[in-house]
Amino acid sequence: MKHHETFPLVPVARGSGVWLYGPDGERYLDAVSSWWTNLFGHADAAINAAIADQLAQLPHAMLAGLTHEPAIRLAERLAARTQLGHAFFASDGASVVEIALKMSVHYWANVGQPQKREFVALADGYHGETLGALSVTDVALFRDAYGPLIRASHFVPAPLPTEPSECEPCCAACVVAPLAVLEKLLARSGDRIAGFIVEPLVQGASGMRMYHPDYLKGARQLCDHYRVHWIADEIMTGFGRTGSFLAVDHAGVRPDFVTLSKGITGGYLPLSVVLTTDAIYQAFYADSTARGFLHSHSYTGSALACAAANAVLDRFDANGGQLLPTNAAKAASFAPLLEPLRQLESVRNLRQLGMIWAFEVDGANPDFARKVFALGLKEEILLRPIGPTVYFMPPYCIDAGQFAHLVNGTVRVLQEVRA
Ligand SMILES: Cc1ncc(COP(=O)(O)O)c(C=O)c1O
Repeated sequence: MKHHETFPLVPVARGSGVWLYGPDGERYLDAVSSWWTNLFGHADAAINAAIADQLAQLPHAMLAGLTHEPAIRLAERLAARTQLGHAFFASDGASVVEIALKMSVHYWANVGQPQKREFVALADGYHGETLGALSVTDVALFRDAYGPLIRASHFVPAPLPTEPSECEPCCAACVVAPLAVLEKLLARSGDRIAGFIVEPLVQGASGMRMYHPDYLKGARQLCDHYRVHWIADEIMTGFGRTGSFLAVDHAGVRPDFVTLSKGITGGYLPLSVVLTTDAIYQAFYADSTARGFLHSHSYTGSALACAAANAVLDRFDANGGQLLPTNAAKAASFAPLLEPLRQLESVRNLRQLGMIWAFEVDGANPDFARKVFALGLKEEILLRPIGPTVYFMPPYCIDAGQFAHLVNGTVRVLQEVRA
């Protein structure tokens, strides 16, 4: 709050497409999709209409002892898309990570292996900021103050060079050593480990670090071999962000759990879901309540949010599933527009995957991110660098003119920061 005395919060009054508008008509291109949630732009007509329809019928009813059509339809559609046939709803990303962790440990207890209750995660990974999610998050800034409250986990190296380099999205050779470390850990402690959680292909919060899909294939094999659940946290990467519906689709592998949130409602309402396999579901299927999975949040599977999510899936289904190929063609057509950024000497390791672009800026000081944010607003762009990493993760509706506005504005911002 003290920082905000010199660096005031930015009021926003409305949104339309890629733009957010201030009360006096100022506009900002939302290059971060409002914390990676927005898919099709602000105030999208189809999602607005779906929410309004649902609002008139049933805004919310608890999903305990009751059920409703939007939740059932959504669960069926997500199961068909992911081949994971069981869905457990919650409201936010961190809450559904908690659920996946609890479900994994409870599964092992139900099948007679209660000693399997530790987790492995990737170095620099991020899975949310509630206590369980923080226990598998490796970002000191978020963890350190709460250290005494957090359970210890195992962290293994991500398949990335220590410093971002030209080898990103990282190559197949870079996965070998990190997989060997994972294997050593699982061989030694697999009988105590319940699950291995990863952000597939892109480590978002640690700076949009992009790695090779072969790591996911290798992790799947090791988790099978050592009987450890593989949890893919697709809260940021899901819903087409990396170019396929799920990031794990790039590797052609199925996790035991997939967590989804953010884009699930197109960035409109809080909703999250964990999807899992028949085998895991079966371990909870019993007369005894103690074997059942116990977890509840009041707004779990909110009907309004499920209606928004069904409208999002309608978009993925429309025109024979053209959305992802259209995004791929769009990203390819934007490549020449990045040239002014490439020309800047300070820009390193410009990379792209699906609808995510990122690069590092040489010589960024600790105040860099705040300066870029402030100067970006003057250029009508909303940027939130992560340390020295600047990234673009715009809504999918961005067009070439808007992308050029984003790139050219960013170039001017970086020149001014340097000056
Ligand atoms: C991969 C990943 N997992 C979990 C979360 C936490 O989601 P939420 O902020 O909704 O709790 C995030 C948020 O950025 C995320 O990127």
